[in-house]
Amino acid sequence: MINRGLSLVATGVVFLTLLAPDHALDNGLARTPPMGWLAWERYRCIIDCKNYPDECISEKLFRDVADMLVSEGYINVGYQYVIIDDCWLASERDSNGRLQPDPERFPNGIKALADYVHSKGLKFGIYEDYGNYTCAGYPGVLGHLEIDAQTFADWDVDYVKLDGCYADPKDMNEGYPAFGQYLNATGRPMVYSCSWPVYQEENGIPPNFELLKQYCNLWRNYGDIDDSWDSVSDIINYYATKQDTIAQHAGPGHWNDPDMLIIGNFGLSLEQSKVQMAIWAILAAPLLMSNDLHNIRPEFKAILTNERIIEVNQDVLGIQGRRVYQKNNIEIWTRPITPMIGEEYSYAVAFVSYRTDGTPRAVEITLQEIGLTNPTGYVLQDLFSGDTSTDTNPSQTLRVRVNPTGVVFYKAIPNNPSGSLSGQ
Ligand code: GLA
Repeated sequence: MINRGLSLVATGVVFLTLLAPDHALDNGLARTPPMGWLAWERYRCIIDCKNYPDECISEKLFRDVADMLVSEGYINVGYQYVIIDDCWLASERDSNGRLQPDPERFPNGIKALADYVHSKGLKFGIYEDYGNYTCAGYPGVLGHLEIDAQTFADWDVDYVKLDGCYADPKDMNEGYPAFGQYLNATGRPMVYSCSWPVYQEENGIPPNFELLKQYCNLWRNYGDIDDSWDSVSDIINYYATKQDTIAQHAGPGHWNDPDMLIIGNFGLSLEQSKVQMAIWAILAAPLLMSNDLHNIRPEFKAILTNERIIEVNQDVLGIQGRRVYQKNNIEIWTRPITPMIGEEYSYAVAFVSYRTDGTPRAVEITLQEIGLTNPTGYVLQDLFSGDTSTDTNPSQTLRVRVNPTGVVFYKAIPNNPSGSLSGQ
């Protein structure tokens, strides 16, 4: 998020040019990846409250989510945003041209819901679409950018997800920044989640990451997550394959978004859920759960609330990790994190198996082969169990056993140079 100021231009005669302010989205938000809950993957567009009173997109659902985030302790480990996705709108704007929610499902309006969410110590997010319609066919913001940004500010919204259906991807380099400028101009800080790169990529337009970083706090790069291992592993593969063009753009205030956490739903095993949590931590991804907080088995909740892993995800350096090894359907991912000891980073290190051949697979590797070269070695902590191992020298062979479609996830902290491995 760059601020332009005065520029001196010499063309024979020196004169002063005052550049137009760029109104970048310098909102100071999302310095670490946003954490919270987002409705879409689990609740989609259920609008039949008669038959599905606990699941339909309604005030009741979001009040309930807010209650559960607090009573189940998710708020204590950082889950903060309660975010509505599609299907909250009435089919028409009101007589003043303003957006309005479906009157039956949101009988008290959005401001009252935001107030309730805020009263629980949480933050409130909402969904719209840059085009003529949302993806589910409700009114979009095109032609109403200013009034809609102001409406969100008037409702005390803290987070806006702006989708990209029913819009021309060629217009998005101007359109998304324009909406961001209107959000900024309201004076209310709102996290701005953009879907612009995924729509451009799907249409063969390479996304402009410099613009994205300037105007958006996070952005979707790839297609929607579904409730399956296929979907999670496909997304992970996308971020690995594209890492040389994508990873460098993540940082405090601006993140790549591989979509929601689906842990606690129907499609992932316990091992696969651990993989999603570990890789989302490596990717510095937003941690937005989309699940039924009333029906999460304790072992899945333990994954979602693992503070050691959340600490990796929220690391202050904001460096996105990368896949550094791939062989025999085993991958190793690393992410540089704090604490730094002198010049040496700590690392999160994930060993992921895509194998299904029925027994834990042993991987043998030295830390130096995957880029961890601190001469005085590392202390490894297993981030799922919390167990800490003795010192590991970078040239010593590590043997790690990884379960089928599972993960072993370590934090490697450099030994202090004064306390070398050999105890000299
Ligand atoms: C798109 C988005 C999803 C969700 C739906 C809502 O598919 O990518 O995350 O918001 O629209 O209709």
